[in-house]
Amino acid sequence: MLIRFSMVLVVLFSLLAGLSACEENKPAAPAPRQPSPEKGRMLYMQVCAQCHGVAARGVHFLGADLKTSTLFNQSDERRVIDLIVQGRPATADRPAMPPKGGRLNMTEDDVRDIIAYIHSLPGPTATEATPAATQPTTPP
Ligand code: HEC
Repeated sequence: MLIRFSMVLVVLFSLLAGLSACEENKPAAPAPRQPSPEKGRMLYMQVCAQCHGVAARGVHFLGADLKTSTLFNQSDERRVIDLIVQGRPATADRPAMPPKGGRLNMTEDDVRDIIAYIHSLPGPTATEATPAATQPTTPP
């Protein structure tokens, strides 16, 4: 009888151990989402391309060239997201960047997808690169 009881205990313990192992596998908080350049491409084409061009190389008198933009290509993604979310008022020599490009229901994840898409686009080719002599020196 004692043996049967201890066997029941063993079975119970292994069941409990198995259950708690399952609990451990469940992440406490959802893992940070990987940005999706594919989703970003759709949004970029709908919202940003009209001003920044389909290749993100800018449109004269509209949006800046994002492939050569020091602001866009900096390592601090937070600042890039903030600029896109908040936009930038017009000045005497350039029009405004509308908040979220005008698509106000965009989430921050959408913005991250768009950023990933723009980074996936090819950069300026060697022949397009401005010679150092004519390029204003911008600190990185
Ligand atoms: C209505 C036109 C318009 C739309 C739409 C638009 N932008 Fe802009 N964007 C601008 C203008 C104008 C500027 C300022 C350009 C300048 O400083 O020469 C700008 C600036 C920026 C900059 C800063 C570039 C720099 O070097 O200072 C980023 C980044 C940017 N836009 C990203 C986006 C993204 C991403 C989208 C889509 C969600 C978007 N824009 C939609 C017009 C637009």
